[in-house]
Amino acid sequence: MADTATPNVIRRADYAPPAFLIDTVALEFDLVPERTVVRNTMRVRRNPDASRAAHLELMGEQLEFVGAQIDGLPFANAHAHEHGLLLDNVPDNFELTLTSVCNPAANTTLSGLYVSGGNFFTQCEAEGFRRITYFLDRPDVMATFTVTLRASKADYPVLLSNGNLLEEGDLPDGRHFARWEDPFRKPSYLFALVAGKLVALEERVKSGSGKEKLLQVWVEPHDLDKTRHAMDSLIHSIRWDEERFGLELDLDRFMIVAVSDFNMGAMENKGLNIFNTKYVLANPETATDTDFANIEAVVGHEYFHNWTGNRVTCRDWFQLSLKEGLTVFRDQEFSADMAGGATDEAARATKRIEDVRVLRQMQFAEDAGPMAHPVRPESYVEINNFYTMTVYEKGSEVVRMYQTLFGRDGFRKGMDLYFKRHDGQAVTCDDFRHALADANGRDLAQFERWYSQAGTPRVSVRTRYDAAQQRYSVTLRQGYGDAAPAARETQKGPLLIPFAIGLIGKDGNDLPLRLEGETKASAVTTRVLEFTQTEQTFTFVDVAEEPLPSLLRNFSAPVIVEYDYSADQLAFLLAHDSDPFNRWEAGQRLATRELMTLAGRAATGVALQLDDSVVAAFARVLTDETLSPAFRELALMLPSEAYLAEQMAESNPAAVHAARQFVRKRLANALRHEWLNVYEQHRTPGAYEATPEAGGHRALKNLALSYLAELDDPAEAVRLASAQYDAANNMTDRAAALSALLNAAAANGGSAEAQQALDDFYRRFEKEPLVIDKWFALQATQRGSAQRPVIDIVRKLMTHPAFNLKNPNRARSLIFSFCAANPAQFHAEDGAGYAFWADQVIALDAINPQVAARLARSLELWRRFTPTLREGMRAALEKVASRVKSRDVREIVEKALA
Ligand code: TRP
Ligand code: ZN
Repeated sequence: MADTATPNVIRRADYAPPAFLIDTVALEFDLVPERTVVRNTMRVRRNPDASRAAHLELMGEQLEFVGAQIDGLPFANAHAHEHGLLLDNVPDNFELTLTSVCNPAANTTLSGLYVSGGNFFTQCEAEGFRRITYFLDRPDVMATFTVTLRASKADYPVLLSNGNLLEEGDLPDGRHFARWEDPFRKPSYLFALVAGKLVALEERVKSGSGKEKLLQVWVEPHDLDKTRHAMDSLIHSIRWDEERFGLELDLDRFMIVAVSDFNMGAMENKGLNIFNTKYVLANPETATDTDFANIEAVVGHEYFHNWTGNRVTCRDWFQLSLKEGLTVFRDQEFSADMAGGATDEAARATKRIEDVRVLRQMQFAEDAGPMAHPVRPESYVEINNFYTMTVYEKGSEVVRMYQTLFGRDGFRKGMDLYFKRHDGQAVTCDDFRHALADANGRDLAQFERWYSQAGTPRVSVRTRYDAAQQRYSVTLRQGYGDAAPAARETQKGPLLIPFAIGLIGKDGNDLPLRLEGETKASAVTTRVLEFTQTEQTFTFVDVAEEPLPSLLRNFSAPVIVEYDYSADQLAFLLAHDSDPFNRWEAGQRLATRELMTLAGRAATGVALQLDDSVVAAFARVLTDETLSPAFRELALMLPSEAYLAEQMAESNPAAVHAARQFVRKRLANALRHEWLNVYEQHRTPGAYEATPEAGGHRALKNLALSYLAELDDPAEAVRLASAQYDAANNMTDRAAALSALLNAAAANGGSAEAQQALDDFYRRFEKEPLVIDKWFALQATQRGSAQRPVIDIVRKLMTHPAFNLKNPNRARSLIFSFCAANPAQFHAEDGAGYAFWADQVIALDAINPQVAARLARSLELWRRFTPTLREGMRAALEKVASRVKSRDVREIVEKALA
């Protein structure tokens, strides 16, 4: 049905190898903002492994074709059209030279070659290279690249591309040139160039084999004071990949460049990573602890792509998770090792908890809507729409399951075999799975379903204790529940689920585990059950007392576990489980259950109340000095409004907000004394330290402040927040104080303190775009009230001189923050939020389709909301569907309305 409405569906099943191969590419650029001339000389030959084609069809977009030569002679049979260049009757093996012109200054899509802040940048993944020159722009065509850049020396003193610098020098008329060579074959999506007025922080390090490497972080001159942390993160990443995976940096030189106009986080171009400034620039005054951690993770992620993505790349874009899921897994493990080493389980768990929170809130939601797709999708209209939570985050969970099944050593053996077999190739997710299976002597045929089935699996658990026999049986049943139609189509059979479990005794300690048929209990008190059937029973023997099960420890699979714990049992797990992840999980289950009940009551106008036992369970965590501050902060943070709304049979953001606020206020008032204590005890006086410990103290202290701002009389919180704002020597504390002031004032339609702090914040950081993004975001996500709805504030901020729709970071800071991170205000009954959303999607569609499509996705779960909201959303979606032009947005809204 959707196929006739959207004619250009690309299917995985239609994959065919390219008819021609390109072995070498020599590019020459004459860089001029409005008119850049590109000369592209390629060595082309027929692919011996493909059927013979009469024509060579190259992709090209938004290019002005100038001319073609074959083996040095003009070639007349080249026909340029809207999507590329068709060359008739070409020889079997030849040199092809193409000349074309593009307009980087007019390129607001930020795909291909574009100008930002007066400098040139490229973004080629997934299909941007064809906006630079005509090419076989697909990842299974790999070539070696030589790049010559020519430009005005005064305007573009720095000229960078992939690989090693071969030569540079002056040219007549104030121009200069640089020639770069990348010794490694690569697909076109990894090509990059940068030209402009930039400066670098440099460092020379020795890699594992003793070779010297030049590392550079390139930024605009005024940002040089914010590059140290990115450089340190890069050095740590290089060491980590050597130690954990035996993978060494393969170039003499590795560069990171920061750009403020960028569609996503960062890009792993070979030897020349290009980053959103948000994931490079940081010092204590401008960046929060979260920013510091994100920078470390993204620098790691892009660096790790050098092996997982670049040395071994994807055969086609359906295999995207081959590089993204694997590389997210690697960056998650890197961050966990940086926080807790290999053995500090509690410190590692904080990272695990944060990652699982993202997965559940964002990926589970994706699985529940019209964009649901398997980790390896079967079809797409626009590939940019498939850089998703499923491909990245669920993909990472799939890779993590191999490690859970085979252990770290078994996983490493699989990785070694993967590189041994496939270095230099463009391969598939199946190739990866086979390497892991073969290295561990296993058949992983069933595991393939993790790649081909969409939807979030549900595992329901039944337990039975037989006191006379001292046997404890655990029956697991898997299915997908009431899955979204897009997911249901793909579901064929049971999955291999590694299900980690422990049994806890009455004293709170783990019991020894012996499965029926085993001769003795194992030393470890967590076992990974291999759950492969629709229903399967595992029986533990010698179980001396009725245990409490600790299920899916460390979140060993991306599934939903259904088990009827009582509130007392959850409180017990929260106090005792030896698995830190499940301790947190018990608190979340307890809170979620209460909040769902309360939201149901709020929806029907019944008065709200919260049981004292729940308050007591939270009080115990708050005051438990044996728990790390970072863990306590995570345990005391309630599930987000978006997550809770998604759990309701009919999402009702207003009811969820009322319930969550009620609980926050109740916890604030009941534990006022404790919050104040925690606030005082976890101050971090003195110089700012960017360590996980200091960050944990700040996180817990600022959580306390946010609860104190909920007090019926917030005067004390306002005093503390104002003082904290004024005294702050770091952005974590300053932003937290400002947020507390805004929320404390919300009920009264604002306060003098809040306004003063907002004005001060703007003046203080006027010259720091990333901080001004925070200024917009804090206002867009604030609580608001009936007298002062946030939509009014947002609309006014749209006219602020610092607002700029063309800059994705700025658009996200105001528009996305409001539409996707302030559900109670966005989903106002009058539909004002939806009308605003539609206007912005339409406006962005004309500027930058990739960014517009991301915003378009914020209404995709519309069918799951209450009837009034549903109708408002449908109207907004229909308006967008009738106006938009891009394939990107069209795919999203058509799938949503289908
Ligand atoms: N491959 C990049 C990463 O995950 C992300 C990416 C894909 C990207 N497409 C992009 C970044 C377009 C910017 C623009 O690391
Ligand atoms: Zn990536």
